[in-house]
Amino acid sequence: MVASLRSPRRLLVATFLVIALFLILARHGREYVVGPAQAPAPATLHPEHEHEHGGESHIVVEQKQDHELELVVASVKAENTSWFDTYLPDWHKNIYVADDPHAPLTVPRNKGREAMVYLTYIIDRYDDLPQNVLFVHASRFAWHNDDPDYDALPTLRHFRLPYLRATGYVNLRCVWVIGCPGEIRPAIDETKKDEAEKIQAKHIYKEAFEELLPEVPLPELVAVSCCSQFGVTRETLRSRPREDYIRYREWLLATPLDDALNGRVFEFAWHIIFGKEAVHCPSAAECYCNVFGFCDIPCSDDSCTGRYTLPPFSSLPKGWPLVGWQEEERNFTGPL
Ligand SMILES: *[C@@H]1O[C@H](CO)[C@@H](O)[C@H](O)[C@H]1NC(C)=O
Ligand SMILES: *[C@@H]1O[C@H](CO)[C@@H](O)[C@H](O)[C@H]1NC(C)=O
Repeated sequence: MVASLRSPRRLLVATFLVIALFLILARHGREYVVGPAQAPAPATLHPEHEHEHGGESHIVVEQKQDHELELVVASVKAENTSWFDTYLPDWHKNIYVADDPHAPLTVPRNKGREAMVYLTYIIDRYDDLPQNVLFVHASRFAWHNDDPDYDALPTLRHFRLPYLRATGYVNLRCVWVIGCPGEIRPAIDETKKDEAEKIQAKHIYKEAFEELLPEVPLPELVAVSCCSQFGVTRETLRSRPREDYIRYREWLLATPLDDALNGRVFEFAWHIIFGKEAVHCPSAAECYCNVFGFCDIPCSDDSCTGRYTLPPFSSLPKGWPLVGWQEEERNFTGPL
């Protein structure tokens, strides 16, 4: 190449080509200034779009079967949800990945924690709901799971569907600690003690409640055992029009409140949304027996012997459930 450029005519042609190339690039360069924002999108979206359609039509066929029960799982990418398939292979699962826009099931925006997932499922499936839905978090072991090992698996395996059918809404947590017998006094708690007090869900609950549930008189006291895992029947879900759930999700999408706050508003509103009294704290004995079939165990109002105890920290020790808080070995007998 270098040798050939020594000929004057070739040099002239080469110079012309370089200038022409420069002009073409300069022109395209200008176009690219506005181009990339739109141009690459169709190329990458297109195949997924087709894939989605393929997936959807398949799911629609399956949904016509009128499932007795479906699981709705609120997860993020960092959580490993394989245990649902391993231990509950026959369950119909809807595993949402809130922070992955390319996941088969996801949400319009990763905001509002599990509330965004639950609402999105209800909105999208409103006309095609199974008879019963369990709404749960993704982690098998989590401090709030109502089990001596904080293991969600036994709570799902023991869950008594007939009781859900009979009552329409069932909290997956029986122990009272965190949420019962009283959590929020909306009218009183609206006012912060002083400016220094950090804003909490109880401070914004009244305003949020009045926006979300204008037809329900503001409760004096709100109580339900915590943590937003529950079962609901199709009938209960449909006791509200789809528009209500759309409105709740729009509130969630629009609110300037932090996730920790807006998610907690729903945590202490689901039971009211589903028609239960604002104070929903069945005795632990009644609850463990009805919900999980653990009957005839010694109980006080708020807890039962051998069941849940509040852990010292919300993050479980490394190695749990085989390793305990003092790095001691634990006799965990469940499947791993
Ligand atoms: C998820 O957990 C399963 C079983 O505990 C394990 O086999 C698998 O490798 C894990 N997946 C990831 C991505 O960590
Ligand atoms: C676990 O089992 C061992 C041996 O069977 C026993 O010595 C130990 O006390 C048990 N630990 C707990 C916490 O139950």
